Amino acid sequence: MSESKQMEDLAKSEVEKAREEIAAAPDEASVHRTKSLYTGKGGSITSMIKSLKNLPLEERRITGTTLNNSRDAVETLAKERVAEIKRSNMRKSLSSDGIDVTLPSRGREAGSLHPIKLVTKEISAIFERMGFSVMDGPEVELDYYNFEALNISKDHPARDMQDTFYISDDMVLRTHTSPVQIRVMENQSPPVRVVVPGKVYRCDSDVSHSPMFHQIEGLMVDSGISFANLKSVIIGFICAYFGEETNVRFRPSFFPFTEPSAEVDIECVMCRGGGCNVCKKTGWLEVLGCGMVDPQVFKNVGYNPDKVSGFAFGMGIERMTMLKFGIDDIRLFFENDIRFLRQF
Ligand code: PHE
Repeated sequence: MSESKQMEDLAKSEVEKAREEIAAAPDEASVHRTKSLYTGKGGSITSMIKSLKNLPLEERRITGTTLNNSRDAVETLAKERVAEIKRSNMRKSLSSDGIDVTLPSRGREAGSLHPIKLVTKEISAIFERMGFSVMDGPEVELDYYNFEALNISKDHPARDMQDTFYISDDMVLRTHTSPVQIRVMENQSPPVRVVVPGKVYRCDSDVSHSPMFHQIEGLMVDSGISFANLKSVIIGFICAYFGEETNVRFRPSFFPFTEPSAEVDIECVMCRGGGCNVCKKTGWLEVLGCGMVDPQVFKNVGYNPDKVSGFAFGMGIERMTMLKFGIDDIRLFFENDIRFLRQF
C-alpha cells in the first residue's frame, strides 16, 4: 500500500477513535482535552498534515484534502458535543433549581420628587397660571444686590434680622431671593411679572430654621399697579395652594425695600382658627412677607417711580411644605431618610 493511502486510512481511523472518545467526554474541559490529542499543536492529525510535504507532489493534493476533512470532522464533533453538554446542563439546572414563575417579582422602586421640589413646582405653576414667568439668580451674591440696592445700607439694623454668611467684605451667601428682583429689573424694562424660587442661607439652626432653606420671591411692576392688585394675587395664590375656604389677613409690617409692607397670615391649617400648638394659640399662621416696591428701589435700577409701581412678596418653601403636609421638624427635609421621602 502506498504511503499516502496508508496516511488516509490512518486519518479515517483516528476520526473514528475521536468520535468515540468525544462522545464519552463528560464535560467541556475533557472535550477540549480530547480534541487537542487529534487536532491540537502536537495532535495525531496535525502531525500527519505536517508530514504531507514528504509525499510526492501529485499525491499531496488528494491526501491533503482527506487529512483536512478529517481535522474538520474532529473539530465539528467537538463543537457538537460541547453544545450538547451545555444543553443538558441547562436542562438539569432548570429542573433542580426549580424556578417558581408564580412568585411575585422583587420589582424595582420608582424614585420620587423631594417634597421641597414638589412644592416649588406647585407654587411656581400657580403663579405661571397668573402670567408670571420663573427666573433664577446666583446664590453667592454681591452685597450690593443682597442689601444695598434693596435699600439696606451697611449700618442698617435690618442686616441683623438676617444672620448673614459673608464670603468677603462685598460678597455674601444670599439671605433671601430679593436680590434677583434687582437683577431682573436691571435687565428688562417694565412690565415685569416674575417669580424666583431658590436656595437662601442664614446662620441659624433649630427645629424650624435651617442654615440653607428655600424661598420663592414674586415681583410685579407696571403702570398703575396698586395694593389691591397685590391682595388679589396673594389671596388668589393662598386659595389655590391651601384651598378656597382659607381665611387670609394682611398685617402691617416693615421691609426696607417695600412701603407699605405687610405680613400675610392664614387661618391655622391644623385647628382651623381654634388655637393650637402650631399657631401658638393665636389661630393664625404667618406665611409670607410682601409690600409695594419702595420708590428708592425703582430709582436704584433706573425705573421712574412716577411712571411705574409694583409689588413684591417672598415666602419660605419649607414652611409652605410643613403646613401643607403637617411636618413639624424642618431637618427632616435634609436628612434624606428614605422612610420620610417615600411618603410624597
Ligand atoms: N425678602 C424678605 C425676607 O426674606 C421677604 C420679602 C420679599 C418681603 C419681598 C417683601 C417683599 O424676609
